[in-house]
Parts: sequence; C-alpha cells; structure tokens
Amino acid sequence: MQSSRVIVAAAVLAALSILSTLNGAVARSGGRQVVNKYFDINDDAAVNVNAEYTRPIVGILTQEVSNFVRRHYTDKAYSSYIAASYVKFVEGAGGRVVPIWIGREKEYYEDIMSKINGVLMPGGATFFNQSSGYADAGHHIYNIAIEMNERGTYMPIWGTCLGYELLVYLTANNTDLRNDCSSSAQALPLEFEKDYQNSRLFAKASDEVIHILSTYNVTANFHIFCFTKETFATYGLNKYWNVLSVNHDWYGAEFISSLEHVKYPFYGVQFHPEKVLYEFIPNRNITHTSQAVIASQYFADFFLNEARKNRNHFANRTEEINALIYNYQPVYTGAKGSAFVQQYLFDTQFYGTSSGATKLHCLLALITICALGAWRRV
Ligand SMILES: *[C@@H]1O[C@H](CO)[C@@H](O)[C@H](O)[C@H]1NC(C)=O
Ligand SMILES: *[C@@H]1O[C@H](CO)[C@@H](O)[C@H](O)[C@H]1NC(C)=O
Ligand SMILES: *[C@@H]1O[C@H](CO)[C@@H](O)[C@H](O)[C@H]1NC(C)=O
Ligand SMILES: *[C@@H]1O[C@H](CO)[C@@H](O)[C@H](O)[C@H]1NC(C)=O
Ligand SMILES: *[C@@H]1O[C@H](CO)[C@@H](O)[C@H](O)[C@H]1NC(C)=O
Repeated sequence: MQSSRVIVAAAVLAALSILSTLNGAVARSGGRQVVNKYFDINDDAAVNVNAEYTRPIVGILTQEVSNFVRRHYTDKAYSSYIAASYVKFVEGAGGRVVPIWIGREKEYYEDIMSKINGVLMPGGATFFNQSSGYADAGHHIYNIAIEMNERGTYMPIWGTCLGYELLVYLTANNTDLRNDCSSSAQALPLEFEKDYQNSRLFAKASDEVIHILSTYNVTANFHIFCFTKETFATYGLNKYWNVLSVNHDWYGAEFISSLEHVKYPFYGVQFHPEKVLYEFIPNRNITHTSQAVIASQYFADFFLNEARKNRNHFANRTEEINALIYNYQPVYTGAKGSAFVQQYLFDTQFYGTSSGATKLHCLLALITICALGAWRRV
C-alpha cells in the first residue's frame, strides 16, 4: 500500500520532468521566442484572465531642480529631478519607471512614448513659462498622447498637483487660468460631485475606499494655485474634463480636486497620494493612517491598471535596461530638510539635447560676457 503510493508519486514526478524538458526543447526548437523560452505564468490565459500587459513601464517627467537643491548641493551640477515618492508610487503598484528628460525635441518624446505604457506628470514648483522646461516637454507629451489615443493606442497620463494643473493648462491652449489658492499642508476628505460613480477613476473603487476618501482627512494638499468650476464653465473646459470632486481651501474657497478627460485616459488630482504613502516630513498634515494608505494606494493601482492596457515596449532588453531609473540612485534630501525624503537628481547632461540646454547656456554665457564687458568699460 505504502510503497505503491511512492511508486505512483515517483512515476508522476518523472513524467512531469520529462514533459517540462520537452516543453523547453519545443520552445527552443521553435527558435523565435528567445525570451519566453520557458513557461511564464503571465502567459497563462487562466492566470492573466484580463489579458493584461504584465510588465508596465511608466515614464515620469523630470523637472527643473528647486532652489533648495541648488543651495544645498553647490558642488554638483544638478539641473533636473524626480521626487522618489513618484517612482515608488509606480513601483508600489507593480510598475517600473523610466525618467523622461525635459528640454528635448519632439522626436525624443515620440520615441520614448512609443516604448512606454503611460506617463506620470508629477507635482512640483516650476513655472510653465520656463523655456525648454517642464511645460514644453508636457506639451509634446500631451499632443503625442492624444495622437496615439486617436490612432488606437491606449496611452494614459496621470497628473498630480502641478502635473494636473499642466494638463488643464495645455487643454486651455497654454493659457494660465489658475486661481490663487491657499491649501498648503491641508488634509481633506474629497467632496464628490454628483456623478463621480459613473467615472472611470472611481467606478471600481470599493465602498471602503469611497468611505475613507469621503469621510476622513486623508488627501494631502500642497498647492497655491487651483482651478475652479467657474473657470471651467467660463472657458469651456467642461467639454474636455469631467470634474469628479472639489474641496475648500483654508479660506473656504472651492477648488477642483480630481478630474478625468472626457475622451482620453488622462487623469488629474490636485492632492498628493504619493506623499501619504512615501513622504514623512513632520507637522505638514500628511496623513499616514492605515486608512489613508488604503485610499492613496487606490490611485496608484488604478493608474497602473490603465498602463497595463497599453502594449508598447522597448526594442530589446538592452534598450530597456539602459532606460530604466534603476541606473540612477536617489539622494536622501530629506536629511537636509527637503520636503522630499529622497530625490533622483540629474546632471546637466540630461537636461535637453545640445539644442535646448546649450541654447540656455549660450544665452547665460552671452549675458555674462555682456555684463563683464559692461563692467570693464566702467
Ligand atoms: C513666469 O511666470 C512667473 C509666475 O507666473 C512670473 O513671475 C515670471 O515673471 C514669468 N516669467 C517670464 C519670463 O514671463
Ligand atoms: C484651444 O484651441 C482649439 C483650437 O484652436 C479650440 O478649438 C479650443 O476651443 C481652444 N480651447 C480653449 C479652452 O480655449
Ligand atoms: C479636517 O481638516 C479640516 C481643516 O482642513 C478641519 O477643519 C476638520 O476639522 C478636519 N476634520 C476632521 C474630521 O478631523
Ligand atoms: C494642519 O491642519 C490643522 C487643522 O486640521 C491646522 O490647524 C494646522 O495649522 C495645519 N498645519 C499646518 C502646518 O498648516
Ligand atoms: C536594441 O534596440 C536598439 C534600438 O532599436 C538597437 O540600436 C540595438 O542595436 C538593439 N540591440 C540588440 C542587442 O538587438
């Protein structure tokens, strides 16, 4: 009895091992599928029931470094950055990140966007009128994403805080329709609009997530600008965006706090889910309760699920490896008092190609030369 069971088990194991060897051999003799030579659980239709792309890569737009970094890292030539919390936001929902450089030509953005599965435009404090900066890069990305979606490639964009403001600014044909707002270090529950449940962003949110978001002070607001429903009505922006929630700033002024594009998979939030999850500056009203974490993680999961609907990919593994953010190390800027615990800080070489950055440097050099000339004349 006992021994016959052992024999059966051994026979099954032997059969399995022969089968798996055959499987590998068949795949090898098939030749073409070099990467998927062996069975990958993701390829099993019984596991990947939604036929998702399971290796999503999100491009995160860099932006001009802050004065804080210029002041504290004087021996470095940092010119652009990404707050690491945005990288973790993507990684924490099953994605990988490539940085998207600012200051480049349209062709660069077309190329990189043909290889990634979504774009995240982070918050920050840069101006939209800075030439060859965050807004110019955002403009290319926005136009390319619209073209891609029109041609049938699902290309999602997520805008947080300044990134959301940039999306609306671009819809408004580069006019700055932002109001002043006083909502720094303000934790708030969302005040949902009537039809929020019919939105893509919130339709699948669990009752728990909606309860937390609408009840507790869990969204982290850090903004001095905002958009209002009045502005949207006046400038016809409702044609492009569905407003999903509003909030009130420290003085009671109403502002839009979340929205989604009516036609394209573009989403914007005025608050910072990534700060709740990954930023730990004290006394700034960033809620780190387990409920705040559940609610904030919802937005990361939602966006990465959008990215999984896109099937763009790099030409080969080498190209992918060279593009990923793993090639760079974040700096512990929080130790020096930055609002960001960690930042990816990039050298001048990454800010633009020869054209954008060099133009800026030539201009600065020219101004310096002129100034020196003027001084010598005195
Ligand atoms: C850019 O915008 C900021 C704030 O809106 C303003 O203070 C600054 O003068 C502008 N710069 C240029 C070059 O227009
Ligand atoms: C932006 O420009 C387009 C094309 O000229 C126009 O159709 C649209 O109404 C403008 N949008 C706004 C908000 O001004
Ligand atoms: C949430 O924060 C606001 C200030 O923004 C405060 O007035 C309110 O009492 C807070 N609500 C709760 C439930 O703590
Ligand atoms: C944090 O929020 C409370 C109200 O909930 C407010 O009294 C306090 O001033 C806020 N902290 C900061 C640094 O603004
Ligand atoms: C990978 O793709 C890049 C871009 O298309 C190409 O230049 C490179 O030769 C490729 N490398 C390999 C090993 O196939």
